[in-house]
Amino acid sequence: MPTSSDSAGRPAQEYLSVRQLTVGYGAAPIISDVSIEVREREIVAIIGPNGAGKSTLLKAMTGRLSPQSGTVVLDGKDVTGAAGYELTRSGVGYVPQHNDVFSTLTVRDNLEMGGYLLPKAEVEHRIGYVLDTFPILKPLLKRSGKLLSGGERKLLGIGRCLVSSPKILILDEPTAALSPSLARTILEDHVTALARAGTTVLLVEQRARQAMEISNWCYVLVAGRVELSSEPRSLLSRPDVGELYLGRPAGPEPDRGPDSVAGDGSTDGGAAVPQVAAGDES
Ligand SMILES: Nc1ncnc2c1ncn2[C@@H]1O[C@H](COP(=O)(O)OP(=O)(O)O)[C@@H](O)[C@H]1O
Ligand SMILES: [Mg+2]
Repeated sequence: MPTSSDSAGRPAQEYLSVRQLTVGYGAAPIISDVSIEVREREIVAIIGPNGAGKSTLLKAMTGRLSPQSGTVVLDGKDVTGAAGYELTRSGVGYVPQHNDVFSTLTVRDNLEMGGYLLPKAEVEHRIGYVLDTFPILKPLLKRSGKLLSGGERKLLGIGRCLVSSPKILILDEPTAALSPSLARTILEDHVTALARAGTTVLLVEQRARQAMEISNWCYVLVAGRVELSSEPRSLLSRPDVGELYLGRPAGPEPDRGPDSVAGDGSTDGGAAVPQVAAGDES
């Protein structure tokens, strides 16, 4: 059974929610009876071990997968089964973990693709906003996506999504495969700045501790079910959370230098997961 803390302190207005959602790729569900809600202007984190169904949940919330049962509600409207482009038009921005950038296109073309549902004049205006938000992209406009570094690529993926002026930004492991310092920059600088500027954020992260530190609410998804729904600060102080729910063996993290990239943020879940009970990331 999910344990749920008191939701006092959360903004009143719910923006995106799923209710008793069951979804999978075939007859067997991957996630079952999952309910989560994201309220306006919150950062909500979803953490959990690899294979728990986090990406599957996001696909169902963004119109990439149709639920077997349950509902998806956006801004008070039932959007269950709506297509991805309809949700994009309604303000849902989604940055998948992979394939968030067209490698064969330039940075500029990628940004323009992000505005495919907008009038051209508005696209230019929005690209200007994205370049102001991520100035690192400015000198790279003519560069091919395949020549970008991991960090540049991820900012382009997020930037491409921002072109469509999303009210909610849904990020699937934005720091995977990035160095600890780049991960910190993305989470602590960029994601928090976007939230401060009024964008609601739903964040799936393997860096559990860092995700909790910047979020207003946290769900722990394990084996396709919500195991915990809580204000994150109280989870940060619980050593059992990492061990029980995030697939982390007890004991300290192996020491890594601050600039080490090896083994960091990889998608196999090992090294980057166990940040709840142990010390800092790097
Ligand atoms: N396209 C797919 N077709 C069939 N099974 C899939 C597909 N994508 C993911 N799965 C399975 O769904 C389960 C949950 O995967 P996923 O949602 O990616 O978990 P997480 O994001 O938490 O690591 C895994 O067992 C995975 O093998
Ligand atoms: Mg995933």
